[in-house]
Amino acid sequence: RNIAVVYGGFSSEEVVSKRSAEGILSFIDTQRYNLFPLLITPEKWVVVLNNDEIAVNKSDFSIILSNQHIKFDFAYITIHGTPGEDGLLQGYLKLMNVPHSTCDVLTAALTFNKYMCNNYLKNFGIRVATSVLVRRDKPYDINKIGKTCGFPCFVKPNAGGSSFGISKVKEMDNLKQAIEKAFRESDEVIIEQFIEGVEVTCGLYKTKERTVILPITEVISKNEFFDFEAKYTPEKVTEITPARISDELTEAIKKTTQAAYELIGCKGIVRIDYIIEAEKHYLLEVNTTPGMTPTSFIPQQIEAAKLDIKEVFTEIIEDAMH
Ligand code: DAL
Ligand code: MG
Repeated sequence: RNIAVVYGGFSSEEVVSKRSAEGILSFIDTQRYNLFPLLITPEKWVVVLNNDEIAVNKSDFSIILSNQHIKFDFAYITIHGTPGEDGLLQGYLKLMNVPHSTCDVLTAALTFNKYMCNNYLKNFGIRVATSVLVRRDKPYDINKIGKTCGFPCFVKPNAGGSSFGISKVKEMDNLKQAIEKAFRESDEVIIEQFIEGVEVTCGLYKTKERTVILPITEVISKNEFFDFEAKYTPEKVTEITPARISDELTEAIKKTTQAAYELIGCKGIVRIDYIIEAEKHYLLEVNTTPGMTPTSFIPQQIEAAKLDIKEVFTEIIEDAMH
């Protein structure tokens, strides 16, 4: 079986995706599958083998290697952000009839829109922060936003990840500037009420045979919040798995994670982030292509669950292929 490990992408998270691809390439069993790192950038789609770049034929998702026509049987998507996490690539692969590791078009598009996803989940009783959405081409009332969300508040690109373009805003005077900064990453910006508390994250994967909820990780950032630097600089963060929270809260978060996974119709491996304030957990976001760098949460949680990472990936790939 030929598997394309698809990485790169069109957003600032391209750098993270490259590192996730290194993780994925080491987690998939090479006795079982032939792996092809496939880089997608705004300029090109290429398979990268021994520093050579081989152009991908997009009309049948294949390459020619040493005169041999190699068609990919499966795509393991590890692009964070567009086009791997927002449904674009999922749509292409569906048209090509190629199975892949993540959710379908609608689920990807929904989960990559923080505002819509959180409001959808709120309808089902899942707790989320109060938020306001602003669009690049529409005027907005900054005073009203300040009143609705209060201070401090978080300003985030509505479609984005790895904390690119995010600001914690402490006063009205800085709100407009933060919104402008977030617009550099996304055409929509979400402003959220600040919830003071401990950040935790819970991974989950599901196959036809079983649902595995991974142990929860607690995140203690040495920075003002869990920003890009804290996410990717081990000295800037302490991550504890399993999280030091009560059994009741652990159960409640696991239950919410599974409920959200089902409500949105996720597939494969997903990670959902939360903030806990006064023993209540607020869902921050759903990541359908979670970070897979060797130090990312999911590999840590798989290890803490005492599962064999290669077996987990085989399980997910086999399930998605059949
Ligand atoms: N967006 C990053 C990669 C994550 O959620 O892990
Ligand atoms: Mg994210």
